[in-house]
Amino acid sequence: MATLRGAVICPDPEIGARFDEAIAEIPGIQIIREMRRYPDLLELMRMVRSSVPHVVFLSIEDLPKALELLEGLKSQAPGVQVAALSRTLDPAALLEAMRAGIRECLAMPFDRGELAEAASRIAAAVRDAPVLLDVTEHVYAFLPSKQGVGTSTVAMNVAVALGRRKKGEVLLLDMDLSSGIIGFMLKLTNTHCVVDAAENAHSLDESIWDQIVCKKGGIEIVHSGRLNPDFRIDAQQIRHILDFARRNYKTVCVDISGNLEKYSIEVMHEAREIFMVVTPEIPSLHLAREKLGFLHRLDLADRVQVLLNRYHKKSLVTPSQIESLLGVPIAFTFQNDYQGVHAALQDGRAVEPASELGKQFQTLADSILGLKTEESSQAPQKKRIVEFFSILPQRVPAAGGERQ
Ligand SMILES: Nc1ncnc2c1ncn2[C@@H]1O[C@H](COP(=O)(O)OP(=O)(O)OP(=O)(O)O)[C@@H](O)[C@H]1O
Ligand SMILES: [Mg+2]
Repeated sequence: MATLRGAVICPDPEIGARFDEAIAEIPGIQIIREMRRYPDLLELMRMVRSSVPHVVFLSIEDLPKALELLEGLKSQAPGVQVAALSRTLDPAALLEAMRAGIRECLAMPFDRGELAEAASRIAAAVRDAPVLLDVTEHVYAFLPSKQGVGTSTVAMNVAVALGRRKKGEVLLLDMDLSSGIIGFMLKLTNTHCVVDAAENAHSLDESIWDQIVCKKGGIEIVHSGRLNPDFRIDAQQIRHILDFARRNYKTVCVDISGNLEKYSIEVMHEAREIFMVVTPEIPSLHLAREKLGFLHRLDLADRVQVLLNRYHKKSLVTPSQIESLLGVPIAFTFQNDYQGVHAALQDGRAVEPASELGKQFQTLADSILGLKTEESSQAPQKKRIVEFFSILPQRVPAAGGERQ
């Protein structure tokens, strides 16, 4: 089999150093992570999800702590093998470790022959029971029909509404490199941003990620940094970032620009649903129609949901006119609430959850989480999107400013 990936958790510096020295000489195994203290379970799982080790070499110097981590691994990352490390072979501790399910116990001075044998037994166990990890399919792209329709406002507020139900499980990625605003909206001060995530995409792990990500309002956020319209994230970098995000969060919301750059299209290909934001104005609706045609040509149209933002009763174009203009239903409507949005911006937070607009954001979030409300009946919507394209004119001209 391919090289075994190992992680070492060993607070004792001497044991750790001696083990590293010895294991470096064993072919077919590579140490990809080192933790020089016992992590808590959350940190441990982040490490596992981001590095996906086949085996964790776990010091049993603090046996209760080690057994707690072992239990966590058994329940949350079945298939990850655990080998115990210790200074001496203390029979009582070994017995307890074996009872808890550890099959390999390695003690100083770490005899090379024994290590090699242990490595081949671990490799066989990995072959029999591969690592099973949860990755989420809940990636959502938020796409503006036209600049300034409120996409970032919707994306941020929906992400925070998701976080209200699922604290710490939601990531908001601002991938609008030409006019990213999420960092400003939430008054984030972190200097690292999505550009750093892209530059480190191939080697992302939770320590790099911790420097890039910010926590606010119950969610984690990677903002887009300073304006960077010329920076391009390539498709592979996007996939690495999203793979990492899928392993570490339950729901991932991505704010993209409406320019349809290659990396935005890649995000949409990765997304489960594309929320296209429109306002009840003719230019926005015209471009929404163009974009629907464009997405149809990429086979992405069936995952589009139309969100009507900044709606007010006196809007000149009514929701039913919008639906017939676009040929697709409006999935969710968010009212125009200049004051509510303004107050939230001033405070660097989401809009008041008890306000009408706040409740509307929560409704979309709840529908994403499967806490269905009447507004989110999906089947008829998708059917109508497909029907729409059978009546579209054959050639749909590309929208101005689209990059392909
Ligand atoms: N429901 C709403 N009610 C009132 N104002 C809103 C609403 N949604 C957004 N806005 C306002 O609309 C403006 C544009 O919002 P936002 O930056 O979120 O749009 P965007 O589509 O992401 O723009 P861009 O194309 O620059 O990315 C902001 O001033 C924002 O406060
Ligand atoms: Mg925006």
